[in-house]
Amino acid sequence: MTAIKNVAVVGATGKIGRPIVDRLLSSKLFNVTVLTRDENRRRELPADVTVKGVNYDSIESLESALQGQDALVSAMAFEAIHVQKNLVEAAAKAGVKRMIPSEYGNDLLNPKLADFPIYKPKIAIRQLCEKKVIENPPFSWTTIHNASFLGPDWTLDFIVDVKQRKADIKDGGDVLFCATTYDDIAQAVIGILTHLEETGNRPVRISSVNTTQNELIALAKELGASDGWDITHSRTEDLESEAKRRWAEGDHSEEVIAMFINRAFIGNGWGGYFPVRDNELLGIKGLERDELKAIIKLAMDR
Ligand SMILES: NC(=O)c1ccc[n+]([C@@H]2O[C@H](COP(=O)([O-])OP(=O)(O)OC[C@H]3O[C@@H](n4cnc5c(N)ncnc54)[C@H](OP(=O)(O)O)[C@@H]3O)[C@@H](O)[C@H]2O)c1
Repeated sequence: MTAIKNVAVVGATGKIGRPIVDRLLSSKLFNVTVLTRDENRRRELPADVTVKGVNYDSIESLESALQGQDALVSAMAFEAIHVQKNLVEAAAKAGVKRMIPSEYGNDLLNPKLADFPIYKPKIAIRQLCEKKVIENPPFSWTTIHNASFLGPDWTLDFIVDVKQRKADIKDGGDVLFCATTYDDIAQAVIGILTHLEETGNRPVRISSVNTTQNELIALAKELGASDGWDITHSRTEDLESEAKRRWAEGDHSEEVIAMFINRAFIGNGWGGYFPVRDNELLGIKGLERDELKAIIKLAMDR
C-alpha cells in the first residue's frame, strides 16, 4: 500500500474534528482538505487547509471533492452518522485508500451493543465499508474506539462532575472503563495513516487512561474536593431497560441517549473497557496518574 499524502476531513469544525485537523497539520506529513456543508466555516479553520463545500446528498459532488485524496477522516456529528453513507460510496469510487468513519466511542464490535438503536447507524456504516473493500479495492477502513472522551470539560462532567461535586454512580462505581484525550485520539489518526498495513479493515482500540468513577472521585478529594458531594446511584441494567422502553415510545432525547451510552460504557463486560489496546502501534503514550489529576484539577478550577 502506498503512503498517504492527501487527507480529506469531514466534520473538521467539530469537537473531535478540529483537534484531528490540527494534529494532521502539525505532523507536516499531509496535505489537508476539509469538506464542509458551509464554506463560510473556512474562517474557523487554519489558513493552510484547503476548504471545499460539498452537498452530502450528492455522491457525484462528494466523489468530485474526493478526487486525488488518499484518505478520508470523518468526524461527522453523532446525529448525522447516516450522512456518511454517500461519503463511503463516493470515497470508494474516487479511489480513496483509507477511510476512518466517525466512531470515536465504545466498542461496537461487542455483540451486546448491536441491538442498541443509537449504535445502528455507526454499525451500518462500518458494514458498508466492509462491502466496499470487496467491491472497490483499494478502498479500506479503520474505526477508532476510544470509549469516553476525556478533558477538563463536559466530557469529564458526563462521568463525574468534579466542579459541582456531583455524580451518578453506576453499578457501584468500581467498573473499569477507558477514557481518551482529544490529543491521543488525534494521534491515533496519525498512527493509522502511517501504519496502513497493520490497521487495515479493522477497529483500533485506544485509551489514555483506564479508570473508574470511584477513582475519579478519590482523586478529586485528594485535590481538595473533600466534602459536599451530591452522589446518586444507578444500575446500568435498569438504565438499559428504561432507555429501550422510552426509545420504543418515541423518546429519543439526550437523556435517553445518555442512558444507552452509560450502559454501553460503564456496564461491566460491555463496550467501554478494552483489555487489549493499539496504543503502542499508534504512538499513544497515555497519561500517568499525575496527568489525570492535572485534568481533574483543571476541571475543578474552571
Ligand atoms: N466517546 C465520546 O465520549 C464521544 C463524545 C462526543 C462525540 N463522540 C463521537 O465523535 C464523533 C464526532 O462527534 P462531535 O461531537 O465531535 O461532532 P460535532 O462537533 O457535533 O459535529 C461535527 C461536525 O459534523 C458536521 N455536521 C453536523 N451535522 C451535520 C449534518 N446534519 N449533516 C452533515 N454534517 C453535519 C459539522 O461539520 P460542517 O458544518 O463543517 O459540515 C460539524 O462540525 C461522533 O461519532 C460522536 O458519536 C464521542
